[in-house]
Amino acid sequence: MKILKTMLGLGAAFAVTLSSAAAFAEGYPERTITMVVPFSAGGPTDTVARLVAESMSKDLGQQIVVENVGGAGGTLGAGRVAAAPADGYTVLLHHIGMATSATLYRKLAYDTLNAFEYVGLVTDVPMTIVARKDLEPTDLKGLIDYMKANKDTVTVANAGIGAASHLCGMLLMSAIDTPLVTVPYKGTGPAMTDLLGGQVDIMCDQTTNTTKQIQGGTIKAYAVTSPARLDVLPDVPTAAEGGLADFQVGIWHGIYAPKGTPTEAVERLSKALQVALKDQNVAARFAELGTAPSSEADATPAALKAKLESEIARWKPVIEAAGQFAD
Ligand code: MLT
Repeated sequence: MKILKTMLGLGAAFAVTLSSAAAFAEGYPERTITMVVPFSAGGPTDTVARLVAESMSKDLGQQIVVENVGGAGGTLGAGRVAAAPADGYTVLLHHIGMATSATLYRKLAYDTLNAFEYVGLVTDVPMTIVARKDLEPTDLKGLIDYMKANKDTVTVANAGIGAASHLCGMLLMSAIDTPLVTVPYKGTGPAMTDLLGGQVDIMCDQTTNTTKQIQGGTIKAYAVTSPARLDVLPDVPTAAEGGLADFQVGIWHGIYAPKGTPTEAVERLSKALQVALKDQNVAARFAELGTAPSSEADATPAALKAKLESEIARWKPVIEAAGQFAD
């Protein structure tokens, strides 16, 4: 009799859980969702986030509001989401920095592989090596010679240790075996302002932030880090064409939620992401900025989890060999 009572109790509890999950799924989302971007407004990650958020909002029937939490190469914003309520109303859009920071920062406030739920991949953005428009060199070989000859004075902007611009800068310095003076910002949005103003000399930044400036002639471009030239920048050679054979960097982006966020919310967000990545307007804007939406298969929790795990493993030995830690 006692066992029967217990089983009935468990059954009832299970039924309640099922019905509350169903009720949650039915009602979600009921209010505005916050998407944290771990870099400044107006920069490349912000550009991608606002485009995707706008389209996802239409599918979800609730607005996604972007909140910029810059600093510490993106780890401040990521930490903000790791600590946020796991209720489906806070998400993070971050990039490859999520993987490199796991090694660059030995005292992170969160455990990268266990502090988040995965929503899906968004896009993979090529980088460009650019400079202020009045810098002398006219091609990548000339730029490399110039950097070596002026290694104590030439300045390279980045968005802090753990940023894509930091990673690309670090790879460039090790490729030419010349350490250079770096100038950190909270994002490459503000760094671009100083590059346009001639306050800094060089930057390695995503096409989502540089394409329009390059097309407008307001900055100089020396190379793209994609395997082939980009349709939107046909006159900009690849780094390989410029003499840096294996210099290829793609900045993959993904959406995350705090660990423990209900599966129903994560799946609903992933579905909205897939719809957004098929949105013609999103695809057209991405194309104008030198990138493309991730595939439906990649816009899934499993694909993002696998990507993060493999990228942490890929960059760990590179970063340890460079011995460049943030703390
Ligand atoms: C940004 O949005 O400012 C960039 O993604 C920063 C970076 O990672 O270089």
